[in-house]
Amino acid sequence: MKTQVVIIGAGPAGTLLSLLLKRNGIESVVIERQSKAYVLGRIRAGVLESTSVEILKAAGVGGRIDSRGQAHDHVEIAWRGEDVLSIGFGRLTGKNMVAYGQTLIQEDLYEAASNENIGIVFEAADVEIHDPDSGAPFVTYKADGQAGRVDADFVAGCDGQHGVSRATIPSSVKREYENAYPFGWLGILSETPPLPGLVYANHERGFALCSQRNPMLSRYYVQCPVDDSVDDWSDDRFWSELTTRLPRSVADNIVTGPSIEKSIAPLRSYVIEPMQHGALFLAGDAAHIVPPTGAKGLNLAISDVHYLAKAMTQHFAGDTAPLENYSATALRRVWSSVRFSWWLTTLLHRFPDQSDFEQRAREEDLNYLTQSEAAQTAFAEQYVGLDL
Ligand code: APR
Ligand code: PHB
Repeated sequence: MKTQVVIIGAGPAGTLLSLLLKRNGIESVVIERQSKAYVLGRIRAGVLESTSVEILKAAGVGGRIDSRGQAHDHVEIAWRGEDVLSIGFGRLTGKNMVAYGQTLIQEDLYEAASNENIGIVFEAADVEIHDPDSGAPFVTYKADGQAGRVDADFVAGCDGQHGVSRATIPSSVKREYENAYPFGWLGILSETPPLPGLVYANHERGFALCSQRNPMLSRYYVQCPVDDSVDDWSDDRFWSELTTRLPRSVADNIVTGPSIEKSIAPLRSYVIEPMQHGALFLAGDAAHIVPPTGAKGLNLAISDVHYLAKAMTQHFAGDTAPLENYSATALRRVWSSVRFSWWLTTLLHRFPDQSDFEQRAREEDLNYLTQSEAAQTAFAEQYVGLDL
């Protein structure tokens, strides 16, 4: 096969890229390792910046976000088991956030891709990128027992944290930045009415978060040791731990019920620089990972793809500079969110070896946020995400 852009990975980044390119008259082929059902079944992020909503709408997939997304304009942060600070980012920045699950986004993206006749090869094994630093890169794979090959002008590496694209960049040209956190998040979904808004808690027993997917689907998290197993966590233990970490005024409003999904995820920050090598361009989790605190991962994948689709479109129209600058352009927004999610994670979690001094300093950060509208505005600007 010959196309203009071969995209590796049909998660949110890869599928959205194929759609934005198609809108601009650029052909692509997407190669995905997993089955469609597997990708659709993954439970992941669920909060969109307004910038992400605009980009999804530009790709023609905004319809259900308006009807099913839950817009919110503030978050609450609780600490010491009693204080609750509300930060009205809607009032402070003019921008809201929308709770809309990644599962639904992926369904919307696949439906739009199918309507646009975009070719997605699912269950592709042994995907390999060849000659990324030449003018004639190509990708090989095996699917349905047959060997496949796609030649293209460009390769987009949208294959997530464990993909092959990043490894194709030689160590002599790449620089990697990494931070692992000494705890994980235990998350559950339950078919119970959520709290009206998002609540984050810093408690001596560890972090907790109350979130939502829709009016009858709640998403809750508690910080836990990263090597815990979900078998250690009965539903009763989860609800008891969650409500203990929240102030009574919040905990009293939590409606408990059986969990329908339970999983433990490690927390990590990671960035590779540059996000391009020759004809290969990285976007989304293939290029960076953020801890989930602040919900920036999916939003960054969407903004990377916006920059990349635009720069490729300009390239095919004769202006090569934006694509040459893709990495620098994308990394500015990436580092802003990477720093913010690292800071918010540090502010709200208990580290196994932290001193009383560090905890008091964190509480002072929260006191300052409570007292200063300037500090709340700075928080709000970063929480809702920078302008493109
Ligand atoms: N070949 C082909 N496809 C691959 C390969 C490979 N070698 N390795 C991984 N993939 C696929 C994965 O199966 C997955 O479907 O690439 C896709 C990457 O999708 P995601 O991991 O979802 O990453 P991305 O599209 O960048 O989405 C951004 O934001 O909310 C966060 O982590 C969350 O997935 C989310 C991400
Ligand atoms: C989520 O709903 O999954 C979520 C919400 C807010 C966060 C992180 C995760 O900061």
